[in-house]
Amino acid sequence: MITYNDALKLLSEYGQEHILRYYAELSDDEKTGLLRQVELTDFSVLDDLKHKNDESGKRGIFEPLGAVTVENIENNRDEYLNAGINAIKSGKAAAVMLAGGQGTRLGFDSPKGMFNMGENKELYIFQCQINNLMDVVKLTGTYIPLYIMTSEKNNSETIDFFEKHNYFGYNSNYVKFFIQDMAPSVDFSGKIFMESKSEMAVSPNGNGGWFSSIVRAGLLDEIREKGIEWINVFAVDNVLQRIADPMFIGAVISSGMQSGSKVVSKVSPDERVGVLCLEDGKPSIVEYYEMTDEMRNLVNENGELSYKYGVILNYLFNVNKAVEILNNKMPIHIVEKKIPYMNEDGILVTPEKPNGYKFETLVLDMVHMQDSCLSYEVIRNKEFAPVKNATGTDSVDSARLLLKENGVEL
Ligand code: UTP
Repeated sequence: MITYNDALKLLSEYGQEHILRYYAELSDDEKTGLLRQVELTDFSVLDDLKHKNDESGKRGIFEPLGAVTVENIENNRDEYLNAGINAIKSGKAAAVMLAGGQGTRLGFDSPKGMFNMGENKELYIFQCQINNLMDVVKLTGTYIPLYIMTSEKNNSETIDFFEKHNYFGYNSNYVKFFIQDMAPSVDFSGKIFMESKSEMAVSPNGNGGWFSSIVRAGLLDEIREKGIEWINVFAVDNVLQRIADPMFIGAVISSGMQSGSKVVSKVSPDERVGVLCLEDGKPSIVEYYEMTDEMRNLVNENGELSYKYGVILNYLFNVNKAVEILNNKMPIHIVEKKIPYMNEDGILVTPEKPNGYKFETLVLDMVHMQDSCLSYEVIRNKEFAPVKNATGTDSVDSARLLLKENGVEL
């Protein structure tokens, strides 16, 4: 493990020596814990703060991208379904659940997947996901390897929950957990916050590191040995998510494209959703706040919105391509957040408004590293019920209504 002197040297390169300010007062265990945290933290993200306002994050030229529509898909049902079922039966497909987030908007203390959507019975978010995946297991007679990304903060609670509930009926031999990296949280001047005298304030570094974390966890060998070619990456919090959807997998394979993204038609030009489009001729996602009014309202010759298809965090990536782009640096997004921190008096303060930055990479940036991406339209009310907030838009309430609309008993 790193020594005190090495830690001090490393921290001084980044102007963060204050992290060791209370070192002399700490117990032996706390000293070891803090040095280990310094060793495991990627401080290079701090360099991105220097470029926060310069042109390096500047986007290219956007153009609209259409989709295979719900109607096109229905017309090719047999072809897509057969191709997808064949791929699954021959073990070429796996799924990755992104469950390392902190779910701050929901304000639930445990991992978001442990939230109970049930009203008269127990129906946890994790359980919804497993039930959805079981539909495919039943259809294909094949268990799909499921890799679940957690963070240091929620890993053991997540595993215990799955164990306690017997994996909700899934075959546990096909489930593996892996832990994503953490990134430091800083104040507006770039100094890392302390959470206590022996801990830096750190948080999961966004969902973009899912593949590098899989590799670091040693799971790529298993993926290769099993002959897995396609990985369906999805967010834990969409309770109507279709996972390892044979039609989607079949459509991407039949299209010959390198990747795929499920999309839904936007309800209005101003909907706050990232839109799948082209950027400098390559697939990309433009965030709603990056679109000009002109882009938002642009219509095509059929009178439909040109930037019409919003992403729902359900992607299909090819393993070979993921390996090829593994060492590409993912863009770092610097986001203003409310970060609890220890003040000068040693007291933990929970701020009421944003007081600093967190650093995140996003899985959607991986789309722009692909040569091609099939934009695959699904019906919103059947496949998109995100649980982000307790009430209002994209909330427990709205997701419950959608679950019921789809015949799920609560
Ligand atoms: P969100 O961006 O909605 O973040 O994550 P969140 O942490 O769940 O919620 P808020 O923003 O704090 O309220 C989208 C998906 O990416 C996963 C989440 O678990 C969710 O499935 N995610 C997010 C990670 O796996 N790791 C992260 O570091 C961040």
